Amino acid sequence: MKSIGVVGGGQMGSGIAQLAAVHGLHVWLLDSDPTALSRASSSISNSIHRLVSKGHLSQVVGTNALRLLQCTSNLEDLCSADVVIEAIVESEDVKKKLFSELDKLTKRSAILASNTSSISITRLASATTRPSQVIGMHFMNPPPIMKLVEIIRGANTSDETFNATKALAERFGKIVICSQDFSGFIVNRILMPMINEAFFTLYTGVATKEDIDTGMKLGTNHPMGPLELADFIGLDVCLSIMRVLHAGLGDSKYIPCPLLVQYVDAGRLGRKRGVGVYDYS
Ligand code: CAA
Ligand code: NAD
Repeated sequence: MKSIGVVGGGQMGSGIAQLAAVHGLHVWLLDSDPTALSRASSSISNSIHRLVSKGHLSQVVGTNALRLLQCTSNLEDLCSADVVIEAIVESEDVKKKLFSELDKLTKRSAILASNTSSISITRLASATTRPSQVIGMHFMNPPPIMKLVEIIRGANTSDETFNATKALAERFGKIVICSQDFSGFIVNRILMPMINEAFFTLYTGVATKEDIDTGMKLGTNHPMGPLELADFIGLDVCLSIMRVLHAGLGDSKYIPCPLLVQYVDAGRLGRKRGVGVYDYS
């Protein structure tokens, strides 16, 4: 693999694009929002400069990575990519529309991967004429730091696509786990109900947000408490995942906490908006 397209320049897409460029791939990073694209470009550049100044990356690799990265708003620039990783909003309809467009304009051999947190890969693949080349490649936030990539095969994903995707994740230095294609896969099937329960704990007045987070940080050695982590992930992303779990698995235990819903309705999406459970202003 020589070139990659990353669609969505938010926190995940920009981190994936950075990883790919640092590992020597030519990267097209696309976002439909020009502001998001320029924010992504400067955050990648700052992150690479920080890694170089701390000695985690050589100057040569850092300079080369910045040279390999190109930003665009034109989907057709992705036409020669060997693989495209989609990291846009967690909505099945919006993702399907994108997969259908990518199917029409990318080369026939290209793999179309999704960084979705929860949505069925089989259904995303159904929007294309190449379901054997569609796969879930689920990075954890922040992608440059977190060691894991969860790979999800759709019902029609080929062995060839799986092997190439696994090799790509390993080239990025990641450990791969494999999940069947069921809502939330492995990590979010377990993590999101915990985060949702932390919201219920706050909502029903069991404890303050600080005590809930401190309890889980010091009590179970998590690097962040669940409410702090929800702000880090994005409350909109957490809510979308809970809705996919509820719709896909049917159990009432996945009903999103009303407080989580209310925060999202109020635009309190977490760190990326400067306010979520906590205020970052
Ligand atoms: N990009 C690149 N480097 C980053 C970074 C980013 N976005 N964020 C932090 N770093 C680097 C810092 O530069 C720092 O490097 P040095 O050690 O060389 O100085 C290092 O990571 C540690 O960062 P900090 O000292 O700023 O902060 P920290 O020690 O608190 O670590 C953290 C930050 C790695 C995010 C840590 O708090 C953590 O592991 N939190 C939990 C993250 C987690 O659970 N992620 C998974 C979420 S679930 C998911 O992603 C799936 C989904 O679908 C929702
Ligand atoms: P984000 O809100 O930070 O970024 C999404 C970006 O996609 C935005 O910049 C937006 O302008 C862009 N976008 C939306 N629709 C688009 C389209 N049709 N074409 C081009 N660009 C479009 O979101 P994020 O947190 O980076 O999440 C992206 C994906 O990654 C989601 O599927 C999410 O579930 C998944 N994910 C998120 C996390 C996390 O911790 N936030 C972790 C793993 C996976």
